[in-house]
Amino acid sequence: MTQQPAPTRRPTRVTVFNHKGGVGKTTLTMNLAAALAQLGRRVLLVDTDPQCNLTSYLIDDAVVDGLLDKADSPEGQTIWSAVRPVSEAVGGIFPIKPLKTSVERLFLLPGDIQLSQFETDLADFWAQSFQRKPKGFRGTSAISELVGHVATSIGADYVFYDSGPNIGPLNRCILLDCDFFIVPVACDLFSLRALKTLGRTLTAWIEDWATISELAPEGIPLLNGRPHFLGYVPGGFRVYGGAVAQQQSHYLARIEKEIHSQIVAILRKLDLTLAVGSLSHFKLGGVQDFGSLVAASQRTGLPIFSVDDAGTQTQRDRARRVFNSLAKKVEARINETRS
Ligand SMILES: Nc1ncnc2c1ncn2[C@@H]1O[C@H](COP(=O)(O)OP(=O)(O)OP(=O)(O)O)[C@@H](O)[C@H]1O
Ligand SMILES: [Mg+2]
Repeated sequence: MTQQPAPTRRPTRVTVFNHKGGVGKTTLTMNLAAALAQLGRRVLLVDTDPQCNLTSYLIDDAVVDGLLDKADSPEGQTIWSAVRPVSEAVGGIFPIKPLKTSVERLFLLPGDIQLSQFETDLADFWAQSFQRKPKGFRGTSAISELVGHVATSIGADYVFYDSGPNIGPLNRCILLDCDFFIVPVACDLFSLRALKTLGRTLTAWIEDWATISELAPEGIPLLNGRPHFLGYVPGGFRVYGGAVAQQQSHYLARIEKEIHSQIVAILRKLDLTLAVGSLSHFKLGGVQDFGSLVAASQRTGLPIFSVDDAGTQTQRDRARRVFNSLAKKVEARINETRS
């Protein structure tokens, strides 16, 4: 039997995060991860949104239903199946296997609506960690530990967490577990306003975790607690004749300013190394409105840039360029931030 070579370092963990709903988090997560897989990287997607949209995007409905039906049984293979013993305080995480997807080198840890139950537990674990109780630290680190095992088993280069639209304990946990986070932003007023809450929430989480982890008993598993801001990705804007629609281009400029004042500057106040680079470095790319191609991508479980629908070739080729360049930029930013 050929053995997988042991990875030389922990795979890079990235969270695509914005607590604002419907800004394109899941679409960006899947297509960026698929573009990295096309560049030859091994990528693990982790669906930590109880809505399970990423899982439905990649896996046939019937298979998803089967996974959810069996999640509580001894053969359960969702993230909930893995963390259920921790939730029920009967043991450590239960090992599950990732699913293969339609994209080579791209794997998925399937989500589960019952993760909302675990979210309630995570709130308790957080409070217990403040009280220096080992149970609290172990519970808080359960998803991180699971992801570590699974990522190692497939020799992953990257892990991508898909987050749900809120600032709850589950998102706090995956944000504090990741090395980098990327913020997708829609070109509208509400998205712009949401950036204010986002920056403040993140810094509060990082500060709280620094306090908690200082109290941790020796040898206890801990989250990384240092999510670095990699950059933002404006999305959903319309392009006519090569130019962004006027109203939305106005928002693009405002987004850049808000990202700087509400995220970059606030993180740097806490720690300069959490947001490295000059202003222009933080814009990782832009994902325009790809219209019906996105629906076709969801229907087929293929990346937007691989959909083979009649009449969509020009858009598909554009999508290929967009996600390919995004993947390269993300990787370059990660490498330059690390060096
Ligand atoms: N680039 C795009 N072009 C066209 N439609 C898009 C694009 N990106 C996302 N969409 C559509 O917008 C909707 C929201 O996208 P998506 O589910 O990715 O957002 P989200 O931020 O993950 O949402 P939630 O907050 O509910 O998790 C979906 O119906 C999706 O099909
Ligand atoms: Mg989503």
